[in-house]
Amino acid sequence: MGFILAAAGSAVGLGNIWKFPYLAGENGGAAFVLIYLLCILILGLPIMIAEIVIGRHTEKNPVGAFRTIGGGRWVIVGYMGVMTGFLIMTYYSVVGGWTMGYMIKSLSGTISSISSTRMSEDIFSAFIQDPLQMLAYHSLFISATVFIVYRGISNGIEKWTTILMPILFIIILILIARSVTLPGAAKGLSFYLMPDFSKITTKVIIEALGQCFFSLSLGMGAMITYGSYLSRKEKILSSALQIVFLDTLAAFLVGLAIFPALFAVGMTPEKGPGLTFNVLPVVFSKMPYGSVFSTLFFMLLFIAALTSSISLVQVVVSYATDEWGWSRRKAALSTGAAILLLGIPAALSFGAMKDVKIFLGNTYFDFMDKVTTIYMLPIGGLLIAICLGWKYGLNNTMHELDPDTNNVLLERIWALSIKYIAPLLLVAIIGYFGIYSMVK
Ligand code: TRP
Repeated sequence: MGFILAAAGSAVGLGNIWKFPYLAGENGGAAFVLIYLLCILILGLPIMIAEIVIGRHTEKNPVGAFRTIGGGRWVIVGYMGVMTGFLIMTYYSVVGGWTMGYMIKSLSGTISSISSTRMSEDIFSAFIQDPLQMLAYHSLFISATVFIVYRGISNGIEKWTTILMPILFIIILILIARSVTLPGAAKGLSFYLMPDFSKITTKVIIEALGQCFFSLSLGMGAMITYGSYLSRKEKILSSALQIVFLDTLAAFLVGLAIFPALFAVGMTPEKGPGLTFNVLPVVFSKMPYGSVFSTLFFMLLFIAALTSSISLVQVVVSYATDEWGWSRRKAALSTGAAILLLGIPAALSFGAMKDVKIFLGNTYFDFMDKVTTIYMLPIGGLLIAICLGWKYGLNNTMHELDPDTNNVLLERIWALSIKYIAPLLLVAIIGYFGIYSMVK
């Protein structure tokens, strides 16, 4: 139970509520949703199982795990994971800060006073352009994360989320009810649910793939770390299925809440990272007790973001404590300080540093987001599959799955995915399409 909670807490976060909708909006709606679901099934699920298997088998942090199952240069995969977690945090913390800001805005009545789409958009753009608020909230968010990691109280937080996450689901269901009953909602439903196959481009495929890894917390060893705490009595297969199902359901439902409303109020789906924060306040403002719901929603979203960022920071911190012998205090504080500093350009990417393009027309925020999601995570996943499937050999770990099922067929399918399907597909997608998606 503890494992599923922690892993689901890591998976369900800003990826589901902030990132999934705007990527779907930018990439043709239902076409993206379809490819995303395929990625989850064909790549996400098998790699989730692989990471948990590696974790439980080696009982180590990612670097130690790769030393055991790969040896030699394979430890680089572990280092890369630590690096990726660190880089993701530099912008994740900024968006985590947005959730805090919107919690305050809901409490102060700003959200319920919204009377038009335009007003909602103005509130958001003023907010993300304000350097003071951006830096303050980013600092607060990373401090909260580091505090929890440093005190070692993430267990307590995760227990809380058993109560809180169902409430988040309920609010999302209420939002869906409001959203689909707005006049003009049908257009949003068809955008989100009826795939237009001509919209499936290289960009859609690579972004859906990256989002699959991001949303499931795969490709950098977070699930290896959690798997290392999983008791031998637990069933990996069914745990993985539950986590993947919950995470995918959460993302899917958020889309159902957003797109009907978006079309009903006449916004464009290609809004980028601001999408959720532009659309949902309008929906809340059109609901009875809107400010109560919106306060609750952004508070729960903040907690969901926190349980995800804990898992990201934890990977970096346990690396420093295990491999460098640092105290947890020293590791947590220096990781936090480094993220705080490197996050500054991300916090300013929508305002003061909007015009500072660091690569192919991307701001610092966009660049970090794309480089980690589109390249580092899928490449991490590819190396995980190759190392387990070819270097270490699945025969050495198959017994980890045995108590799960006597269904040899399922095991065979998983083995086939890890050895052949996942590596081939990943090499093809990353190698062939990757570069296009960086160009703005
Ligand atoms: N999955 C989280 C989300 O959807 C983010 C996250 C947490 C993550 N840990 C991770 C992403 C590890 C990649 C790897 O918000």
